[in-house]
Amino acid sequence: MVDPFVYHNPTKVYFGNDALTHIHEELPRWGKNALLVYGGGSIKDNGIYDTIVEEIRKAGISAYEISGVRPNPEIGLAEKGARFCRETGIDLILAAGGGSVIDTAKVIAGSALYEENPWDLVKSRAQISHALPLLAIPTMAATGSEMNGCAVITNPDTHEKLGWTTEALRPKVSFLCPQNTYTVSPAQTAYGSADILSHILEVYLNRAEGFDAMDGFMESMMRSVIRWAPEAMKDGFSEEARSNLLWDSEWAINDLIDRGHSLSWTCHALEHELSACYLIPHGLGLAILTPAFMEYVLNDDTAPRLAQFAVRVMGVKEGKNEKKTARKGIKKLKKFFTRTLGLPASLSEINIDDRLFEEMAAHALSWKSRDGILHGFYPLTEEDLAAIYRKAL
Ligand code: NZQ
Ligand code: ZN
Repeated sequence: MVDPFVYHNPTKVYFGNDALTHIHEELPRWGKNALLVYGGGSIKDNGIYDTIVEEIRKAGISAYEISGVRPNPEIGLAEKGARFCRETGIDLILAAGGGSVIDTAKVIAGSALYEENPWDLVKSRAQISHALPLLAIPTMAATGSEMNGCAVITNPDTHEKLGWTTEALRPKVSFLCPQNTYTVSPAQTAYGSADILSHILEVYLNRAEGFDAMDGFMESMMRSVIRWAPEAMKDGFSEEARSNLLWDSEWAINDLIDRGHSLSWTCHALEHELSACYLIPHGLGLAILTPAFMEYVLNDDTAPRLAQFAVRVMGVKEGKNEKKTARKGIKKLKKFFTRTLGLPASLSEINIDDRLFEEMAAHALSWKSRDGILHGFYPLTEEDLAAIYRKAL
C-alpha cells in the first residue's frame, strides 16, 4: 500500500566547480541585506570565504556575518542570529559550511520573523508560514541540509537535540561545488559517508509492499557511497569521488526516496540522543548504531529486506536461508565502517558507557512516538531501544 504524498522540492541547485560564480546573480533576487553564517574557520583556510566576499561585492548588496557555529550546533547562537536579523533589518541568510552551519542558519531564518523564542518554535515543531530566504553553500557531503526543510539543533541546558522540519526552512538556492569539499579531513569524510548511507538505509529498510520504484535507485546510491568514500579519504582531491558523494548526499535526504511510506528513523532517533549527551560526530554515532540496530531487528519478518540489502548492496551471494544472507550483509556493512572507513566499532571504544541508555531511549521515544512504539522497520518499545544501545556497547 502506498500512502498518498506530495512531492515538491523547489530548491534551485547549481552543481559543479563553477557553482559559486553564480552567487552574485542570485543574491539580489532574494534580498539586499545578507547575513553570512559560518563555522570555525575552515572556509577562511580553504579560500571559500574570499570567494563569497567577492561574490557579495559583485552583487552590490550589504552583508554582515555571524561565525563560530560548532558541530552539534546549539540554539544560543541561533537566538543571537535571529535577534541580530530583527535589529539590523537582515532580509536574506547565506550559509557556508557543513550541516551544523546550514541548520543554524535555518533556525535563524525560521525564527527571525517571529517573536517566539527559537527553541519554543523547534520544540513545538512550529509549521511557520514565513522565513527569511536562505541560500546555502555546503562544504561537505553529509546531511543534505542544503536541499531539505529540516534543521537539527541542540539545547545544551536540557541535553536535547531535536529536528525542526517545516517547508519554510528549505533553502531557496544551493551552490554545490565538489572542490569546496576537497579539504574535508578523512575522518569527517568517513562520518559524512556513514550519514549518507544511514539516510538511505532508514528509508530502504521498510516492510511496505507494492511500491519498489525507488529500490534500485537507493541501492545504486548506497553502492556509490561504498565505492567513493574510501577514494575520497585516500585522495581528498579526487574530483570524481567528491562529486559523487556530494550528489549522493543530496538525493539521500531531499524528500524523493521516502515518499509513499512513512517511517520513524530509528537510528537517527537513537543517535541524536547520543550526540546531544556526548557531543560525538553524528555520522560516527550512526556507523556504530546501524549494524547493532540491523542485528537487533533481524527476524522472520525483516530478513527478506535485509537479505536483499546484503545481496544487492553488499555483494553477498544469494543463499536459500534469508537470515543467514542478511547476517552476512550486516557483517560486511560493519566491516566497511570499521576496516574501510576506520571508524570505531562500539560505543565503549569512544568512552560511552551504559549509564544513560534508559534515559536516552525514553527521550527518543517520547519525541518520536505518541503511542509508546517507534514505528520504523520493526516496531520497537523503549526497552528495545535501550537494548540496541547495549548491543552497540
Ligand atoms: O566549523 P568549520 O571550521 O567549518 O569545520 C567543520 C566542522 O569542524 C568541518 N568542515 C566542514 N566543511 C569543511 C570542513 N573542514 C575542512 N574543509 C571543509 N570543506 O567539518 C566539521 C563538521 O562539520 P558539521 O557541519 O558538524 O558536519 P555535518 O555536515 O556532518 O553536520 C552534522 C550536523 O547536522 C545534523 C547532525 O545531527 C549534526 O548536528 N543533521 C542535519 C540534518 C538535516 N538538516 O537534514 C540531517 C542529518 O541526519 C543530521 O542529523
Ligand atoms: Zn543523519
